[in-house]
Amino acid sequence: MVSYKELGLVNSREMFQKAMAGKYAIPAFNFNNMEQLQAIIMACVETKSPVILQVSSGARKYANQNLLKNMAKGATEYAHELGCDIPIVLHLDHGDSFELCKSCIETGFSSVMIDGSHLPYEENIALTRKVVEYAHPFDVTVEGELGVLAGIEDEVSAEHHTYTRPEEVEDFVKRTNVDSLAISIGTSHGAFKFKVKPGESIPPLRFDILEEVEKRIPGFPIVLHGASSVPQDIVAEINKYGGDIQNSAGVPEEQLRRAASSAVCKINIDSDGRLAMTAAIRKVLTEKPGEFDPRKYLGPAREKLKELYIHKINNVLGSANRV
Ligand code: G3H
Ligand code: 13P
Ligand code: ZN
Repeated sequence: MVSYKELGLVNSREMFQKAMAGKYAIPAFNFNNMEQLQAIIMACVETKSPVILQVSSGARKYANQNLLKNMAKGATEYAHELGCDIPIVLHLDHGDSFELCKSCIETGFSSVMIDGSHLPYEENIALTRKVVEYAHPFDVTVEGELGVLAGIEDEVSAEHHTYTRPEEVEDFVKRTNVDSLAISIGTSHGAFKFKVKPGESIPPLRFDILEEVEKRIPGFPIVLHGASSVPQDIVAEINKYGGDIQNSAGVPEEQLRRAASSAVCKINIDSDGRLAMTAAIRKVLTEKPGEFDPRKYLGPAREKLKELYIHKINNVLGSANRV
């Protein structure tokens, strides 16, 4: 058993209290390799932003749990070396079983998500409560989810949203004792969130549901998944350098800014980072076909990622200068 405290990490409790009071959201950026982690830490240190490092179960398999644990420890030391001890959470994204959550807690995660959103309501409650009962004695925070996002989460894919039912949130939170709640208000995972015909605009998020949820559980931290904006200049760059990404669309940034100033305390962004990294790598490899030193294309990818994260922190999340 390794406690996250030995790794220099924190749980999300205080972060969310401050985010709620200050009307901003904590960035939750996914990572599975060194360059992504470096870019996240550089961006957060430069902007003095707290951060949640997210690892999906697929990412954990890809990167190895022991390496991840030591990378997170290294991230706290790296931030210190760069000159600012920003608070860092290591969070399991979309945990799908008690066993996975338990294993992550035992290997240094400070926060876990148990995603029972695909289960019948009572089963979601039972599973979430079981994880909370295991996690809380270790001072690990737990995120639950009500409502299903369209899109792909690891192997689970849902074609349509099931919006969160505000009438369930109070009961869910009370009976599970979770620390934060992910809700479904029209975001979805991936780079193809909305099917819009030419001339049509992207449908707005269901702020009416969010407001109803806030009324029923005032001051309770809400989480927004599927919050990439899919910047069209980055998609165009990918396509310019040989990629083929068509009909992509994301959540407009002004809608996310509005969400960040509400009870939404954590905003999850993964796809935008994937796109930025891919654009930079494609550019180098297209312009310099003879290049074969990975540092020569992963370095620019890291720079582009850092730029993207700084933009998100300053213009979407509002989490700069909050440490
Ligand atoms: O919610 C999904 C995240 O973007 C993680 O994606 O399971 O492919 O690592 P992944
Ligand atoms: P995006 O696919 O919109 O980046 O969402 C990421 C996410 O919700 C991770 O849990
Ligand atoms: Zn998600």
